[in-house]
Amino acid sequence: MHKKTNKIRQDFLTFFKEKNHVILPSSSLIPYNDSTLLFTNAGMNQFKEIFLGQKNTHHLRVATVQRCLRTGGKHNDLDNVGYTSKHHTFFEMLGNFSFGDYFKKEAIEYAWELLTSEKWFNIPKKKLWISVYEQDYESYEIWKNIIHINPEKIIKIGDKEGIKYNSDNFWKMGDTGPCGPSTEIFYDYGNENENTQSSFIENKNNRFVEIWNIVFISFNRISKNKIISLPKISVDTGMGLERIAAVLQNVSSNYDIDIFQVLIKHISTFSTTKCSNHISLKIIADHIRSAVYMIADDVLPSNEHRGYVLRRIIRRALRHGQKIGIKEHFFYKLVSTVINTMHADFHILQNKKETIQSILKKEETQFSATLKKGLKILDYEIKNTKNDTLSGKTIFYLYDTFGFPVDLTNDICREKNIKIDYQGYKILKEKQKKRSFENNQFCKNYNNDIVINDTCLFKGYKEHKTKSLVKNIAAKNKFVQEISNNDLSIIFLNITPFYSESGGQISDIGKLYNKNACFIVENTKKYGNTIGHIGRLIFGKIKIYDRLYSQIDREHRNDIQLNHSSTHLLHATLREIFGSNVYQKGSLVTNKYLRFDFSYSNSITIAQIQNIENIVNAKIRDNIPIEIKELSLEEAKKKKAMCLFDNAYSSIVRVVFIKDFSIELCGGTHTKRTGDIGFFKIISRSSVSSGIKRIEAITGQTAINFLHKKENDIHDISTLLNCDIDYIKEKITKLINTTKHLETKITTLQHQENISQIKNMMKRVIDIKGVKFLSKIFYNYEHKSMRIMLDQLKKLLKVTIVILINIINHRFTIIVGVTKNLINDINAKKIIDKFMEKTLGKGGGKKDIAEGGGKNTKKIPEILNDIEIWIGDQLKNSC
Ligand code: ALA
Repeated sequence: MHKKTNKIRQDFLTFFKEKNHVILPSSSLIPYNDSTLLFTNAGMNQFKEIFLGQKNTHHLRVATVQRCLRTGGKHNDLDNVGYTSKHHTFFEMLGNFSFGDYFKKEAIEYAWELLTSEKWFNIPKKKLWISVYEQDYESYEIWKNIIHINPEKIIKIGDKEGIKYNSDNFWKMGDTGPCGPSTEIFYDYGNENENTQSSFIENKNNRFVEIWNIVFISFNRISKNKIISLPKISVDTGMGLERIAAVLQNVSSNYDIDIFQVLIKHISTFSTTKCSNHISLKIIADHIRSAVYMIADDVLPSNEHRGYVLRRIIRRALRHGQKIGIKEHFFYKLVSTVINTMHADFHILQNKKETIQSILKKEETQFSATLKKGLKILDYEIKNTKNDTLSGKTIFYLYDTFGFPVDLTNDICREKNIKIDYQGYKILKEKQKKRSFENNQFCKNYNNDIVINDTCLFKGYKEHKTKSLVKNIAAKNKFVQEISNNDLSIIFLNITPFYSESGGQISDIGKLYNKNACFIVENTKKYGNTIGHIGRLIFGKIKIYDRLYSQIDREHRNDIQLNHSSTHLLHATLREIFGSNVYQKGSLVTNKYLRFDFSYSNSITIAQIQNIENIVNAKIRDNIPIEIKELSLEEAKKKKAMCLFDNAYSSIVRVVFIKDFSIELCGGTHTKRTGDIGFFKIISRSSVSSGIKRIEAITGQTAINFLHKKENDIHDISTLLNCDIDYIKEKITKLINTTKHLETKITTLQHQENISQIKNMMKRVIDIKGVKFLSKIFYNYEHKSMRIMLDQLKKLLKVTIVILINIINHRFTIIVGVTKNLINDINAKKIIDKFMEKTLGKGGGKKDIAEGGGKNTKKIPEILNDIEIWIGDQLKNSC
């Protein structure tokens, strides 16, 4: 049995194609439209909305080979890489999915057939073990009665710590999202004649390895503690390609499979190690695959977010290179080997090969210089460390001065059995973050001080990409000849397509690049008569007189345009509805939303808002061409173009016409036709100051997403209420009435309960020097009722001290009443203070009534005992 990895991948897809599955491509490592995930970590990610019933699908049966990264968030394998033979940061997941089509029986049968039939993977059945979720009786029965697995080899895995669904056989995508019970198939690397359930549970030397996880998606986890059922049940399976390849190639470690071995052999050629099984070889092999795929999916090394994960992976790999005696820059040279082993993605990766290599080479050059020095320092500190723990100060110093990510330092310490003071490091890092934020604020203003006497031709009304010449460069508020690091800098060009922030429209973003360098433009601003492109270099060098392509991010610009043209439609609509006294008082147009402030004194009703939306959307549906003309100011005024009086206009002005519905002077960028906007939705209305109102709105896909979110919320509410969407209002009204009714009932019952409690308590009154003393502990009683009882007891007993305590959820509250005729000798506040002193709780109040509370419920009986004596002492001379 020896099947090449590329063949296994192909066979998997062919098998499921024969079972009527549609083969879809892998999605990017960067999850689309899902802020709950840092990286794609499972095959099902791209289908999340389908599983949740938020999106329809044409295909009910699908199979994919998904590239996955598990280096952060819920699924994080970074620390295991190299130390176990089965974990990777990057791996490929083979998966078949059913969206409301087949369920448990077929999913299990397909998996079994592919793994065991002679035609396919032909794994001996005796080598396979099964686990099921303890409460999933159906899967158990299928394995036992249909697949005929010996029950001894079906392990039921229950919930941990008695928490429902907290089980290794209940799969969750993350803190929220689709989830459900799973059944897993394990491969036994040991002697199958010597096995028992206990050897499976003990799993010595990782003898049993999970190869396939079959999840029955049945629920949506909407918060940490809340899970709701899904209307449609589905199947999500995942089999790690590298693991199944190890089984089919008869090797016990994933790192011994064909595609890894080619890579490891290549790495060895740079190294002095003789050990072909060295951990560092495996770590480098794993990390180069991650780095190649991350960069191919547009992640760039940086100090934040995804970019920092990539940087950490690269730096960890370089340090392992150093460890096995590699002296030259080698990491980027491995790129072509990765590409050659990955047949399925060969063409995509090959097209990006040079970019990937040049980014890795730059990272490597930058870090190698500091790696050696940092390692020397770390070596010294480890030798001189106290308590076998490396101080936070050293970790921070290595991070800050030598760019050692904390997990790199930890990795090295772990090899020497040294712990790290992570908390100490974190405190120092937080402090630095605060300082750098303050510096950045300073830097922002500082760069505004740049004075430059130059011009730049703006071509961005018609072009998205221009050939430009670098005329000036500024960094840290100084003009410089060139830039070669990624500090915030400003580049001034002769020609640009970048719109600079003005008239309420935010600036374009994009990139300036040639084959030797790339500069990411984060913002564009006017500096006198020229335009500054503010951003950071990500590779290469840029110097004055370099020629570059300047290219804006078209999607970003497009979204801005939809919002800008909608602002004009909104402005005209407001004047149509509220009259020509409505004037623009402020406007912000971004790629995400638009904000429009205008003069209007009355309040705006929901019906008026809907009317505005109707008119704007009708204009969108009319698909009116948006025309832009340059006219003399006189001509523009004749055409009744709206001018903003606080703006200074030149004699030739730019006028934006949406037929005669909206004619407005404007320097911004617009879409070609109103129909491009697609859809307009107001999301908020408010009052900014007296006589000025504000409307915020969204457009296009953002507006559709907004409605989808509302729709999902309503759907969730209807699920929670267990009723049809059309009946929600009715159901809530019923619930409110029921609650009111119950509250009245509770008040009556509580009143009766109070009367009977008071009756009982009266029997327990004791006499302390002529004063009636009463104390009682309640459990889970209602606080309001305790106050009522206290007042009634005071009235009934006339000369009295009453202490009522309520214990609820391991905490107590206390209320003390003293009749006014006693407060010169003893008062309620003093009694509360006494309690608080001994229970370390908090309280206060007046002389006749005081309250408090705390956690130390155990002390209460003892304090109550002592308090009687103490009260007696206080009353010694008075009665
Ligand atoms: N989504 C399941 C997993 O990742 C199949 O294990």
